[in-house]
Amino acid sequence: MMLVHTSIIPDDIRRWSDNYFDITVVIDVLRATTTLLFAIRAGAKRIVFTKSPDEAFSVARNLEADTPLLCGERNGKKVPGFDLGNSPCEYTDEIVGGKTLIYASTNGSVTMHLAERVARRTILASIRNISAVAKYIAGNNPKKLLLICAGKEKRMSLEDTYCAGMLFDKITGIASEVPADDETIAAQLLYHRFGDDVGEVFSHSIHGRYLSEELALWDDLAAASEIDADDIVPKIEDGEIIL
Ligand code: MLT
Repeated sequence: MMLVHTSIIPDDIRRWSDNYFDITVVIDVLRATTTLLFAIRAGAKRIVFTKSPDEAFSVARNLEADTPLLCGERNGKKVPGFDLGNSPCEYTDEIVGGKTLIYASTNGSVTMHLAERVARRTILASIRNISAVAKYIAGNNPKKLLLICAGKEKRMSLEDTYCAGMLFDKITGIASEVPADDETIAAQLLYHRFGDDVGEVFSHSIHGRYLSEELALWDDLAAASEIDADDIVPKIEDGEIIL
């Protein structure tokens, strides 16, 4: 039996004790867990994630014998002094291949730090690797699973909750006996409302609309909406992605 919990807002996980879960999954569809898939695929040598841009600058200063790329965003835009923003298409083989990345995003990297405490293993999911993550979970058959939505500035985000629902739906398709809490069921119902029309979800979400209407990042939304375009399941440990 696999008991599934969902935290629709990341702060909710503070109530869980250390390592309460066998596996936890961090979801930040727009855009952290989408963009990090691109960074991995492009061959980054090392990816360290931090809770803030200031921490990113300080980690970079203390790295010996390596010139890292500072990556991430504030308000969806590249941080002044950073090398890259948070658009998936920036993370190409030419730019990040063989490089150390220090990554700071508003919600995603902060949630990744919070998540590590409550589970023995922490993995990253987005729409792009959803079936790979579902298969990984079913294969590992955790007794207790937590899905954590990064949300938007401590509030719920439609796209992360929808993605949690899609993931749970896929898990129930391949694993038996998967009781879940009400947040997980609510997320699944949200997924059933939109089906696989991820673009429609983005058009209703505050952050989806911000990225398209304010920042014109249409390519980012297209990249984030591709179901099963990736089969990588990123794992994190001690503030780094295990590569
Ligand atoms: C975040 O971590 O808050 C996001 O990835 C924001 C974004 O860059 O769209």
